[in-house]
Formats: sequence, structure tokens, C-alpha cells
Amino acid sequence: MERMRSTPKKIICSVFIFGCILWYASFLHEHDTVVRSTKKPNIVFILADDLGWSDVGFNNPYVITPNIDRLAREGVILNQTYAAQSCGPSRATLMSGYFPYRLRYSVQLGAFFGQGLPLNLTLLPRTMQGLSYSTYMVGKWDLGFCKEEYTPTRRGFDKFYGYYMASGDHYTHSFLGHLDLHDNMDPDWSQNGTYSSYLYTHKAVEFIEDHDKTKPMFLYVAYQNVHSPLQVPKNYVDMYRSVKNVNRRKLLGMVSALDDGVGKIVKALKRNKLWENTVLLFLSDNGGPQNERCESSNWPLLGKKLQLFEGGTRVVGFVHGDMLPESGYRYHGMIHFVDWYPTLVGLAGGEITDQEVDGIDVWRALSMNRPSPRKEFVYNVMDRPYFCEAIRVGDYKMMRGSCGDVACRAPPPETEGKLGEPQCIEVWRKTGLYLYNLKDDPIERYNLAEKMSGKVRTLTARLEEYKKKYVPSFKRSEARIKEGQPDNFGGVWSPGWC
Ligand SMILES: *[C@@H]1O[C@H](CO)[C@@H](O)[C@H](O)[C@H]1NC(C)=O
Ligand SMILES: *[C@@H]1O[C@H](CO)[C@@H](O)[C@H](O)[C@H]1NC(C)=O
Ligand SMILES: *[C@@H]1O[C@H](CO)[C@@H](O)[C@H](O)[C@H]1NC(C)=O
Repeated sequence: MERMRSTPKKIICSVFIFGCILWYASFLHEHDTVVRSTKKPNIVFILADDLGWSDVGFNNPYVITPNIDRLAREGVILNQTYAAQSCGPSRATLMSGYFPYRLRYSVQLGAFFGQGLPLNLTLLPRTMQGLSYSTYMVGKWDLGFCKEEYTPTRRGFDKFYGYYMASGDHYTHSFLGHLDLHDNMDPDWSQNGTYSSYLYTHKAVEFIEDHDKTKPMFLYVAYQNVHSPLQVPKNYVDMYRSVKNVNRRKLLGMVSALDDGVGKIVKALKRNKLWENTVLLFLSDNGGPQNERCESSNWPLLGKKLQLFEGGTRVVGFVHGDMLPESGYRYHGMIHFVDWYPTLVGLAGGEITDQEVDGIDVWRALSMNRPSPRKEFVYNVMDRPYFCEAIRVGDYKMMRGSCGDVACRAPPPETEGKLGEPQCIEVWRKTGLYLYNLKDDPIERYNLAEKMSGKVRTLTARLEEYKKKYVPSFKRSEARIKEGQPDNFGGVWSPGWC
């Protein structure tokens, strides 16, 4: 106060004006925040199929994905997000907020075996409908279709265009020679020859154009890329002339085709004035298959799709949205696919009422770059014959059972252009017990199980606790499979046989 009194008039005056500007700026900012938070955001969830850790440009400079890279850089790159080890279980978790082992999805059984996601669950799109969202889905469902009640439009999607199975031909849209392409409940025979990423992008754009702009939108685009078979228009393969391994060249072409699709969806959102209020998530459903053909790469992570090593379960992804208070960083906090359900419902202004849901809302932590509320999760629990289980608690991961005779590590990106032959380096793992400190050893080189038997005991006890909620997987029934054959349904994979 003493100093103030002695300050010349001129300075007081300018301090006042400056203060005024600050006050006005903060008013604007507050006003802005209020407007944003009362308007529900559009949510666009793009799920890539079998995309490996080093199969995108932001993790590997040899991969040509300019759209994905730009969005990732402008958003928040997820550096420690986990999915299940394969497609069906990951999607079951994403749609329900339950761990897959509670839903009979410990292992991947084809949808054509006559299974589905339990009907008493309220799936994510249904919850979004309840929050006044329009809900659209494009692409791969993979969560059952043997009766209509299992299919997307009966589980909460206003509109669906895509396929029921886990895979298929990228051009004929058939699985085992029979059509698997559906426009809501109707078979679509008209797209034989259209490449899958073109087809699904086109449909996603159409849903965006036709969307009633007075309502918020939940759009789930589950691309078929980059799942096998390795099929892609030649112009994309030609982008990778320097890559000697022909399988890798094709797969990377499929990745670039996917990237074009992502770019077109963003353009459509901008053209329709939806972009400023959109949260876009891009993720893979599991690690790359990284098999002996070595087409995909999870480098430097160990292992591949279907394995519980990090390469099979720790997935690439990012979140983008103008409403992120901060962006342009890698988020190192732990997230599991099970968390997206409550996180997206929270963003939509809702709350989870089902106390059994395993997921945790991670939006605050993720968007403010704070520690994650998720401190532990189950990779999987199961019984024989597939027995392999793992749990993460804090920095430690315990794994036991028959978790792969061989686990591969792909070669580093620097050698990408030089490879003529598949060069996965095999690391032999026999049945047994593993303990890794993932903070110090994220690429699983040092098994600490013998040295730290106390830690193994603690994590085993925790695993057994979770396992109390385990429900055994579906049994494959040959009679069922026969009843579901497309020959009984005009040559189309269709509901009506369970
Ligand atoms: C992502 O996580 C891995 C494994 O913990 C770490 O080695 C890597 O440095 C992280 N990436 C970046 C860019 O921070
Ligand atoms: C769904 O049904 C199963 C099996 O009957 C039951 O265990 C589970 O608690 C039910 N879940 C909900 C959310 O109602
Ligand atoms: C697609 O077209 C090819 C070539 O004409 C044909 O052999 C195939 O049966 C068609 N598939 C479907 C599912 O329509």
C-alpha cells in the first residue's frame, strides 16, 4: 500500500487498463468454457484392426500416415494404453466396460460359432442414445449375429453399415466365400470390387453429411484395415518401393489407405462444422500379428497379437479434440480399453449406473496430463487348453502358463528399408512364470520371477481375486455352425439360427 501511494499516476492508470484487459480476457475465456461444456461433444472413435506399435508414422518414420501423425501431434498420444490380445475380446470390452473374461470372451472364437455379447448388458451406443446422441457404426462388429438381438442396430446403433465377422475379403466383402456386408439389416450385394477402406470411409462420410446437426453424434468407425488378407490398391503399395519384404510393403500400403480414410473423415467433420466440438479417438484393437511373414511390427515391444506380451496388448493410439485443455504430449498414464466406456459416457454428460462395470473414467487425468486413476488390470484369465494369464499391478506384470513357445521382436525401424527377408528375432519362452518390472524394462527382457518370489505371490493373489468373476468361454458346437451356414440364408451370413 505504501508503495502504491508513491507510484506516479501514469503507472496506476496503465496498471488499471491492463487489469481491465486481463479481466475481460478471463471473462471471455470463462464464457467460452461454459459454452463448450454445456454443448455435448461429438465423439468419433476410429478403431484400426491389427495395427502394430511401429506401424504408424508417429512411432516409425518409415510409415506414411500424414493425417494420423498430424492429429496425433495436435492431440495426446497414448503411450500406455492396453487392449485385449485379440479383436473380439477388445471390442467386447470397448462396448461394455467389462473385462472380456467376465463376458465369455477370454479367447477369440469366431462369431459364426453362435455366440454373442450377453444380451442383458447395456452397450455403449445404447447408453449414448439415452444421452440424446445419434449413434452410427461402420465396419467390423465381431460381437455376434446368430440372432437379430445380437446385431448392432438392436444394441444401440441408429445406423449400421458393415460386417459381422472378424475378417473377410477386402474387395468381395465375403467370408469363406459368402457375403458378409450389411446395410442395417439388409445384405448389400452392390459393392463387390470396392476396396474396404474406401467403402467404410464413404459410408462414415455419408453418416456425417446426413446427421441431424441439432443433436450430438457418436460415430464408431471400425475399419477392416489392416487385418489380413493383405489386400490393397496398387498405388498404396507403390508408396513403399524401398521396402524389400513384399508382405511388409503391402501391409504398409494398407496403413496408408487407412490414413487417407481418416483424413477424409476429418474433412467431412470440418465441412459440416462439427469438428470444433468433436473428440476423436484413434486406436488399434490389439498388437500387430507380426508372424513369420513379418508384415507388421510391434518393435520394440515383445510379442504379437494373441499373446499377452506387451506387443500383443499395448496398443497405438491418440485422442484429439479442441476441448483438450492441453495437448501435444505423450500421456504415459495407464489406460485399459475397459475404461473407454465410462470415459466416453462421462464426456457425454452421463454417469455409469451399473456398479459391475470394471472401467474407470480417465478423462480428467488424460486431458490434464495427471497420473492415471487406473493402477492395475487383468490382461486375461482363462482355463485350459489355452491357459495363459497375466496381471499388472503398479510397475509389475506377472504372467503364467503357456504363453507362447516363441515370442518375437521385430527389427528396428532404421533397418526397415533394407530388409529383404523376414527378420523377426525369436526369443524363446517356455511355459512358466514371468515377472517383469515394466517401468525399468518395458520390452520384457528380464524375468524377475525367481528373484522376487514375494512380488509373484502378491500379484498371484490379486489375479485369483479377479478370477472369481471369470466365466468360461463358449464351447464350439459343430451342429450350431452347420445351422448358421449361409446356404440356409440365401448365401449371406445372417441371423436366425440360435
Ligand atoms: C513410450 O513408452 C515407452 C515404454 O515405456 C518408452 O520407452 C518410450 O520412451 C515412450 N515414448 C516416448 C516418446 O516417450
Ligand atoms: C447378466 O446375466 C448374467 C448371467 O445370467 C448375470 O450373471 C449378470 O449379473 C447379468 N448382468 C447384468 C448387468 O444384469
Ligand atoms: C464378387 O465378384 C466375383 C467376380 O465377378 C465373383 O466371383 C464373386 O462371387 C462375387 N462375390 C460376391 C460376394 O458377390
